[in-house]
Amino acid sequence: MTNNNPIGLFDSGIGGTSIWKEIHQLLPNENTIYLADSKNAPYGQKSKDEIIHLSSKNTEFLLNQNCKIIVVACNTATTNAIKELRVKYDIPFIGIEPAIKPAALHSKTQKIGILATKGTLNSELFYKHVEQFQDIQIIEQIGFGLVELIENGEINSKEMKDLLKKYLNPMMECNIDYLVLGCSHYPYLIPQIKKILPSNIKIIDSGEAVAKQTKKILYEKVGFREINEKSEQLFYTNTNPKVLIEILGNKFKVLEKDF
Ligand code: SIN
Repeated sequence: MTNNNPIGLFDSGIGGTSIWKEIHQLLPNENTIYLADSKNAPYGQKSKDEIIHLSSKNTEFLLNQNCKIIVVACNTATTNAIKELRVKYDIPFIGIEPAIKPAALHSKTQKIGILATKGTLNSELFYKHVEQFQDIQIIEQIGFGLVELIENGEINSKEMKDLLKKYLNPMMECNIDYLVLGCSHYPYLIPQIKKILPSNIKIIDSGEAVAKQTKKILYEKVGFREINEKSEQLFYTNTNPKVLIEILGNKFKVLEKDF
């Protein structure tokens, strides 16, 4: 099936580019439009109603750009708003959920850690998800302050290092063997996290699974771009684009727009 319209993605900021990278790698011929709502980051501390409102606004922006599918590249928006988005808009949505299942299935110590936002850890969707793994001890930790530091380009700061140590030490003391990153911003912290965790603790995120699911839905329902010209990757942000440009390695078109 052919469909030459772009794939749309949105996140509360720059973190969802970790998901975009996986999608672009798997589907390099597809045009993509990424919306970074950094002005309203972090979503993780907002109420469910606010998250639904912002997610609807982002969706409408992407629909106005003729996107054929929307990837909610934000755990907090997925866990709090995707159900409502699916009811409200007639377009396929792909969400991102913490990779609890693979961690729980492979854990030898039966203890896994999850680092995510308050909005994700307190959501009904997350609760339903973890409920299935009664025999696994899940150590939950809210990553207070991490998204703000990433959005400010302070990934390698001392403050970041201290926060990560504070959040990860109790998990290590509990003998976890998997750490699940339940926020699309956090894959950018992997080099820092690896300096703290011993090498036997595996770190997993959901980027690759989301990319595969996007490909599957394009194949089954939406259609692939079948034009033989180089694809276009477009990024919109509603704040200063400096950190987004840095994170993308200065290679793509970034537009500043107040939305
Ligand atoms: C946030 O905006 O608080 C983080 C986004 C996420 O949960 O992926």
